[in-house]
Amino acid sequence: MAYMFLRELIRTYRERDPAARSSAEVLLCYPGVHAVIWHTLSHWLWNHGFLLAGRFSSHIARWLTGIEIHPAARLGRRLVIDHGMGVVIGETAEIGDDCYLYHQVTLGVARTSSGKRHPTIGNNVIIGAGAKVLGPIVVGDNARIGSNSVVLEPVPPDTTVVGMPARPVDRKLSHSATPHFDPYGMPCDDSLDPLLRDLEGLRAELTEVEARVARLASAQVQQRRTEQRMPAGD
Ligand SMILES: CC(C)(COP(=O)(O)OP(=O)(O)OC[C@H]1O[C@@H](n2cnc3c(N)ncnc32)[C@H](O)[C@@H]1OP(=O)(O)O)[C@@H](O)C(=O)NCCC(=O)NCCS
Repeated sequence: MAYMFLRELIRTYRERDPAARSSAEVLLCYPGVHAVIWHTLSHWLWNHGFLLAGRFSSHIARWLTGIEIHPAARLGRRLVIDHGMGVVIGETAEIGDDCYLYHQVTLGVARTSSGKRHPTIGNNVIIGAGAKVLGPIVVGDNARIGSNSVVLEPVPPDTTVVGMPARPVDRKLSHSATPHFDPYGMPCDDSLDPLLRDLEGLRAELTEVEARVARLASAQVQQRRTEQRMPAGD
């Protein structure tokens, strides 16, 4: 069970972070992985009535990783916290599956109140570096929050919001049945920029042609050398 959990988490980092080169690197060098592992312990302690022990273990995790997650917070599966330093996830925050948080993200309180006071984040949401999501608002599935945004209003699904206070940017993302992840929250939909897609295609073809020319040139050089080495037979 613990092994499966760890395997899934490491695989997620490797799939989603272009900088992750090996499983060992992810396990040893990614504070987000350590924070989620520590949270599993803190959350268990908290839910079994060991409140101080839960708080204390989350405090140790914060000390080690720079990521503060309240032991009562609910985290979904395959959560990636990239870089991590300065992330704060409050007591009544909830995060769905497949979310991606960058450093200095705060899921916090807008105004002091009791009860549910932190945000609920849907599935497959990307929250850019330094963004603050405040209050008991809902961020819909597949939403993207720009870096340094301050989000005070609910965010509908498939929407990108930026700014302070955060407002939706014009376009709405369309998603296929199988949602895929784009590092840094860059466009999820290929049809957004057909010109760019064509340019990418041309670049790939050019690279292929260059490689073929290089192969032919080297074969020609090889052939000339062989001919020079061969004694004049007749
Ligand atoms: C929000 C984000 C996902 C938008 O990506 P996108 O869909 O490609 O959107 P665009 O770049 O086309 O920007 C759309 C508009 O929002 C603005 N915008 C984008 N990101 C913004 C931000 N963080 N704050 C303020 N405005 C922003 C753009 O200037 C543009 O404005 P315009 O329409 O007036 O020209 C992306 O900009 C972002 O912030 N990703 C997170 C990256 C991150 O945290 N990286 C950390 C790596 S260590």
